[in-house]
Amino acid sequence: MSGTLAPETVQPHLRGRFGEPYLYEPECESTQLRLIGSGLSEGAVAATDHQTNGRGRLGRTWLEAPGTSVLVSVLLEPPAERRLPELSLVAALATAETVEHAVALAAQIKWPNDVMLNRRKVAGILSELGDGKVVVGIGLNVNQTREELPLEAPTEPGSLYSLTGARYDRAVLLGSLLSQLERSYDIWREHGLDGLYGEVGARDFLRGRRVTVDGKRGTALQITREGRLEIESDAHEVRTVESGEVEFER
Ligand code: BTN
Repeated sequence: MSGTLAPETVQPHLRGRFGEPYLYEPECESTQLRLIGSGLSEGAVAATDHQTNGRGRLGRTWLEAPGTSVLVSVLLEPPAERRLPELSLVAALATAETVEHAVALAAQIKWPNDVMLNRRKVAGILSELGDGKVVVGIGLNVNQTREELPLEAPTEPGSLYSLTGARYDRAVLLGSLLSQLERSYDIWREHGLDGLYGEVGARDFLRGRRVTVDGKRGTALQITREGRLEIESDAHEVRTVESGEVEFER
């Protein structure tokens, strides 16, 4: 394992209010479970170098080889007037910006919660609600070789290493991710998704692509200002989708 996400390696890279407290275990079932129902307050962070039962969206499992990824959960207490489904896009934007800063390539957001680099999924976001608080979990594939990436996944996975050939310091990435998340979250708290719409829209991976959602085919038009996905059917009917899994054609 190259490096760890132990507090002594990560805390020098923490710049803002996220990461107080910073809970770390070398291995745990899921970082989400360390925060859900914990009674902790906004800004609490849980990180690990390996999850034995990492949680993905739609009841899936999130798999990684030990010591290869950024695996982090952040506890947030959003204002009541904000639409919670937008939070995954806020976190996806922060993750995309972190990736771009690290690898100097453009990253995209695949609605509603994936981060793409060179058409591969390099990160996934899982937002879970408990006690009126939201735990946002981010899994970023960093140093996996191609062989270490899951063989079967709905969206073809990649890691920063498999796509660029360079290894990255996970503690530095985590510090940068938490800063970016704090920035985008604060803008969202104040202005809603409208405040980030230009940045999200510019990274919309699905825009203009042929997609299938809930068995229905069409062309993705855009992520709306409310964080929904707008799709035009082949009969030119436009509908918006609130949540779900999108398959795209290459
Ligand atoms: C997805 O794309 O299905 C979402 C994956 C989310 C994975 C992260 S890893 C850190 C946090 N802990 C978990 O158990 N899941 C999230």
